[in-house]
Amino acid sequence: MGLATLKQLLTQQLRTDQLLGLRSVPLVWPEFSTSKKEVPGAGGDSRNAPTARADASHTQAGDSPQAGRLRLLDDTQVKSCTKCSLCKERTQTVFGQGNASPRLVFVGEAPGYEEDQQGLAFVGRAGQLLTRMITAMGLTRDEVYICNVLKCRPPKNRDPSAEEILACSPYLREQLEILQPEVVVSLGSPASKTLLNTAEGIGRLRGRFHDFYLSGHSGDGPSVPLMPTYHPAYLLRSPSEKRKTWSDLQMVMSRLGLTPPGGS
Ligand code: URA
Repeated sequence: MGLATLKQLLTQQLRTDQLLGLRSVPLVWPEFSTSKKEVPGAGGDSRNAPTARADASHTQAGDSPQAGRLRLLDDTQVKSCTKCSLCKERTQTVFGQGNASPRLVFVGEAPGYEEDQQGLAFVGRAGQLLTRMITAMGLTRDEVYICNVLKCRPPKNRDPSAEEILACSPYLREQLEILQPEVVVSLGSPASKTLLNTAEGIGRLRGRFHDFYLSGHSGDGPSVPLMPTYHPAYLLRSPSEKRKTWSDLQMVMSRLGLTPPGGS
């Protein structure tokens, strides 16, 4: 490796470390692919499979078909949902937002106070860290899609109950069916356990890709690669775990053929 390349790698790594709030340089240099790869098993004909079909009354000027279908799902089902008791305490539902044809989707747990107030996913402190993680990957929030398992805030940000997850997760599955991402990142235990239909905790799940089946049954139908990683709220409490999260996100970048900001 030439001196110029090494200098470029160091500069790029330091910038990324700054973004993630890391202080030291990892011993192992990342291998970043420069090509845009197609992810096997994602996309294909199923991208256009109809679920919620948008009609004129729910489509806004400039909406893509996917954006129209997401709007329809939100307007006709999620906003008026009373499937669990969280509907009684919410200020509003939080559907999710971002690119309606994204390569990458982040799935969190549930709205917190700020999200409930603003009606947007990940806009509080954890959301600011998520933004830094996305920026470190060389992406913007507008390029990805961000949503949660629960569309309503649990009081005092308590953990979602099994009943709430059962009631709400069909909306998430429908969202992901419409979005047809190339890769999903699940943030924290509840999102990872829900999407992978497992009782394993995040510490054991993270660090490798899993197959996410839209049908909910392993081996049934098309799958999307899913990377579980730590939730940004946990990283705010345990910053020493950021390095593991960054390693997970680097695997996602490699899968998507992304180079980090400043990379060649
Ligand atoms: N935590 C989440 O899981 N989701 C949000 O939208 C905000 C905080």
